[in-house]
Amino acid sequence: MFPITRMRRLRSSKFRPLVRETRLDVQDLICPIFVDETISKPFEINSMPGIFRQSLDTVADEAASIAELGIPAIIIFGIPAEKDETGTHAYGENDVVQKAVRAIKSQVGNDLIVMTDLCLCEYTSHGHCGMVSDSHEILNDPTLDILGKTAVSHARAGADIVAPSGMMDGMVSAIRGALDDNDFKDMPIMSYAAKYCSAFYGPFREAAGSGFSFGDRASYQMDPANTDEALREVALDIEEGADIIMVKPAMTYLDIIYRIKKNFKMPTAAYHVSGEFAMIKAAARNGWIDEKRAMNESLISIKRAGADMILTYFAKDMALELRSR
Ligand code: PBG
Repeated sequence: MFPITRMRRLRSSKFRPLVRETRLDVQDLICPIFVDETISKPFEINSMPGIFRQSLDTVADEAASIAELGIPAIIIFGIPAEKDETGTHAYGENDVVQKAVRAIKSQVGNDLIVMTDLCLCEYTSHGHCGMVSDSHEILNDPTLDILGKTAVSHARAGADIVAPSGMMDGMVSAIRGALDDNDFKDMPIMSYAAKYCSAFYGPFREAAGSGFSFGDRASYQMDPANTDEALREVALDIEEGADIIMVKPAMTYLDIIYRIKKNFKMPTAAYHVSGEFAMIKAAARNGWIDEKRAMNESLISIKRAGADMILTYFAKDMALELRSR
């Protein structure tokens, strides 16, 4: 007790690094890349300053610049030229993601881990993550085959990990089955296992052109009020064969990250989403907060909660910051 114990003794800048409990490393970061089939040069996303849609001609350079920073992994989101009811352009051999993966692999080589987001909402004309009935119901089971086909097409293009994000029941097992049947037994699946129906995806929908034409995603994404349900979602995905599990968004769900890591001890990812990024950028632009400090504090909080890896639009900025220390 005071005065024998003085917590302030170790708070000097000299001792702080020595007693630091959590560390962020460049190896923890996964950097998102948007690639748009319809553009010929990078296009900045209005609500996400500093984040660009890449064209098929620039995406490999972007991936190379990420790899040069020491970031181990990227995740690709595709924006196709054409959309239709059933998301046909999600799985063609020469569709946007497949071309982007091939371009990146041939330019950057095999060290950079190329993950692909596996969802239909960027490819469907209605913008939902699954097949839709005439009465506007999102259909689970008819979606599963298409997800399996899409996973195989990503694998054939050379992707290293597929990341299903559509929150369809049974999606992990459908994808595992399709990959195994096509000789991709060793390809890991990173499942967006606990994905909440969140307002913080707003800017992403502009970035990926995946806004929906009716309804919302509440019939498949989780209720922000629930925790036990997240544990059940994760347990099911693990049983179905998920290798990495993800929680999304991150900062409003730190308790979920914590419980999931404690319970399952699985490789656990957290997605620091577009709205979480945009809020910091917007406040910083107004001079209301210090951007670098807010970035650091946000990412360290996610790590502290138990995430092993963080998908974040700050990946490049954070890598530069870590390098400068
Ligand atoms: C697609 C998908 C979404 C995000 C990642 N994959 C959007 C959504 O569910 O509407 C959001 C990511 C972000 O906000 O950064 N299913």
